[in-house]
Amino acid sequence: MDSIAVTGGAPLRGEIPIAGAKNACLTLMPATLLTDAPLTLTNAPRLSDIRTMTTLLQSLGAEVQTLQQGRVLALSSHDLTSQHADYEIVRKMRASILVLGPLLARYGYAEVSLPGGCAIGARPVDLHLRALEAMGAELDLRDGYVHARAPGGLKGAVIEFPFVSVGATENALMAATLAKGTTVLRNAAREPEIVDLARCLRRMGAQIEGEGTKTITIEGVSSLGGATHEVVTDRIELGTYMLAPAITGGEVELIGGRRELVGAFCDKLEEAGIGVEETERGLKVARRNGRVNAVHVVTEPFPGFPTDLQAQMMALLCTADGVSVLEERIFENRFMHAPELMRMGAKIDVHGGTATVTGVERLRGAPVMATDLRASVSLILAALAAEGETVVSRVYHLDRGYERVEEKLSACGARIERIAA
Ligand code: EPZ
Repeated sequence: MDSIAVTGGAPLRGEIPIAGAKNACLTLMPATLLTDAPLTLTNAPRLSDIRTMTTLLQSLGAEVQTLQQGRVLALSSHDLTSQHADYEIVRKMRASILVLGPLLARYGYAEVSLPGGCAIGARPVDLHLRALEAMGAELDLRDGYVHARAPGGLKGAVIEFPFVSVGATENALMAATLAKGTTVLRNAAREPEIVDLARCLRRMGAQIEGEGTKTITIEGVSSLGGATHEVVTDRIELGTYMLAPAITGGEVELIGGRRELVGAFCDKLEEAGIGVEETERGLKVARRNGRVNAVHVVTEPFPGFPTDLQAQMMALLCTADGVSVLEERIFENRFMHAPELMRMGAKIDVHGGTATVTGVERLRGAPVMATDLRASVSLILAALAAEGETVVSRVYHLDRGYERVEEKLSACGARIERIAA
């Protein structure tokens, strides 16, 4: 397994291009299952999670062509041969559950393996299943699979989510496009990835209103057509790289970045004393003098502070002047990076869903290990600012969500290299 070695201390200067969003692409790809016409996605990120979704769709008989070095995905579900999403693929990536709604809506039948828990929490899929049941699906959970049927087709329904779920909103939204009648999703997720999915579905002929608000209304249609759609910018990759100059000092322009994708996060960076400026090409982040201020962060669904930037923000706060508090409200077990940061000299106390970080002057390099995608990159950020060398092992997590991380950072002066296993 590859590892990444970082020698800290160099301030970063330059520019970093931001890719298309992994989590948008992972829900746009299964939208191909809703139609027999071609769906083309441009600005796709080149990541191992995208390859896993490709393998899953191909196992169902979909055609997935990777063009322009992976930047463009040409998908077709014209000749689908199977409605069975196998455990061997689903277990690798929880987003696989997003094939359930589309398969059921188009074929009236699907068998999808239940994804297990993962490093950041139990992550059940009950809200996905309840939403489909409300649309008339008959579900049978056996042998680790969801066996779903909707013999007369799905029917529109009013679905009120008890709390916000990105994936359940996506599954229900896709399924509702082909259901008979009107579906209303209340307390729907408002993430930019949901807005992106709704826009793509509308291009395919779906009738959707209200995406980006708490209530989404979908008028079912009898069939959808093809479309070409550009994947929205990855707001988590954007926020991650905004933290690089914030941690090391220096100034970096994030090409393609937009403030509205990361508003709450920008507010916290500014509160910590980091400069964020909108430019013609994106966002420019600068840290000039001294230590950053301690801040209080609470993770929330969009437009709140994203859970997917909590680990990276913690890396910044490890060297803040004062005591910061991070409250993780989305996942129950998302502080696995804390003990690793402590191996680098950070002072962190974790109690349940709250981490208290007492800033230290400097972190020190150490061998560390990553447990999930965002934890891995938080260790790399910490390493950029630490004294000496840090080797981050198990970086396969990183390759799930960040393309060419070492190239993007070294282009700005970071001393970082991949050590092939
Ligand atoms: C999406 O996961 C993202 N993944 C996650 O990205 C992200 O952390 C998360 O949304 C929150 O923003 C993709 O888009 C592929 P949820 P998702 O359903 O949809 C609970 C990353 O690093 N819940 O909004 O699975 C759940 O356990 C990641 O890129 C239920 O209880 O998240 C969690 O506590 C990891 N029952 C909360 O809701 C359900 O049926 C929110 O989860 C569904 C969710």
